[in-house]
Amino acid sequence: MGLSAHYSPIALAMEDNPLRPNWAMHRPGLISLAYGFPDAESFPFQELKEATAHLMDARTADALQYGPVSGPEPLRRFIAEWVNESEGLAVTSDNILVTSGASQAIVLATRLLVPSGGVVIVESPTFIGALWFLRGLGVRVRGVKTDASGIDPAALRELVQTLRSEGHEVSLVYSMPTVHNPVGFNAPVQRRRELAEVAEELDLLFIEDDAYGDLIYEGHRPRSMYSVAGSDRVIKLGTFSKLVAGGMRLGWAIAEPDAISRMCALKADSATGPFAAWVTSEYLLSGALAERLPSLRTLYRKRRDAMLRELHPLKELDCEWFSPVGGFFVWLRLPSGLDSEAIRGKAETNGVTYLAGHHCFADSADRRHIRLAFSYLSEEELRVGTRRLVETIRAAVLENGLG
Ligand SMILES: Cc1ncc(COP(=O)(O)O)c(C=O)c1O
Repeated sequence: MGLSAHYSPIALAMEDNPLRPNWAMHRPGLISLAYGFPDAESFPFQELKEATAHLMDARTADALQYGPVSGPEPLRRFIAEWVNESEGLAVTSDNILVTSGASQAIVLATRLLVPSGGVVIVESPTFIGALWFLRGLGVRVRGVKTDASGIDPAALRELVQTLRSEGHEVSLVYSMPTVHNPVGFNAPVQRRRELAEVAEELDLLFIEDDAYGDLIYEGHRPRSMYSVAGSDRVIKLGTFSKLVAGGMRLGWAIAEPDAISRMCALKADSATGPFAAWVTSEYLLSGALAERLPSLRTLYRKRRDAMLRELHPLKELDCEWFSPVGGFFVWLRLPSGLDSEAIRGKAETNGVTYLAGHHCFADSADRRHIRLAFSYLSEEELRVGTRRLVETIRAAVLENGLG
């Protein structure tokens, strides 16, 4: 019989993750626009080496010992100061929980706030990873209508009322109002206020996932939902994955101290990798991040622009997209009649792949969008990959008589 006869219903319900490494990334000749990885060339190799040497020379036992679940105090203090400075918050280390990436923070915040069998509302589209984490927790996930400014407040009110009238427990909304993944917009502050009003009216809570707020290339970072709707309605998440190195697996949750304690109780893992946390902390305390940010923004902005330039011919073919304000992705809409998953095979034959957009929707119904990452590849690879994509779409348009 083996183990498979005993797999849990949740495990059996999980499909194969389309972004699982090895899938497309390492096929020779295939350019993958699927992965939202940070640029590897610019990892701070030397600085992290020095930080490690410094900690080991000083025989910093805390870096090699089990640690407090909430994370090392110097790192929590750094995060608090960082968000206070960059976002105008007024938090202390008591408001900070260090997690294994923002990924784990999504899971912990959901476990804190949603009973089993409860419903979590997500944007349409949303971050593919969040769908995976939420499904893995066995909660139900429902998408709410989202426009270029974020969640539609009226649609949110209606969805919550409908779900509640059907007997569902629903109070949590997972949202990315700042540099949304995959669409790349910032929700205006007015929209945030309207959503905060709906939250007051219907007693809703938000997970505000702010993975890219430090990587805005145009305009300013809007006021966070954490400050607009208040800390009694919002748990705010961040990550060092895009700013330092994804392999450190370090993110954080910002919440009221009591919520932090409860999440620590749920986490109960004797701390997220103390070694990575102490090395990263040592690096950050040198002031390196503030120095590094301008060049990171320039790097990713240039890559975004390189991709956008190559996409230009698709305007004539009724494709739609807009320039993301920050982050790692362009969200492209195909002309009516084209199916993003159906043409992926052709794209791969032409030497390029991407994430078909239906993976980013709770109901998987959308077949017209594709998510393109510009963060990971060199400008030259991006140009070649995007050209291959443009040719694939052009051929599909002609083949389907849409031209
Ligand atoms: C919006 C968003 N949230 C969270 C994550 C997870 O990041 P981490 O590496 O910190 O787990 C990502 C990573 O791609 C992301 O895009």
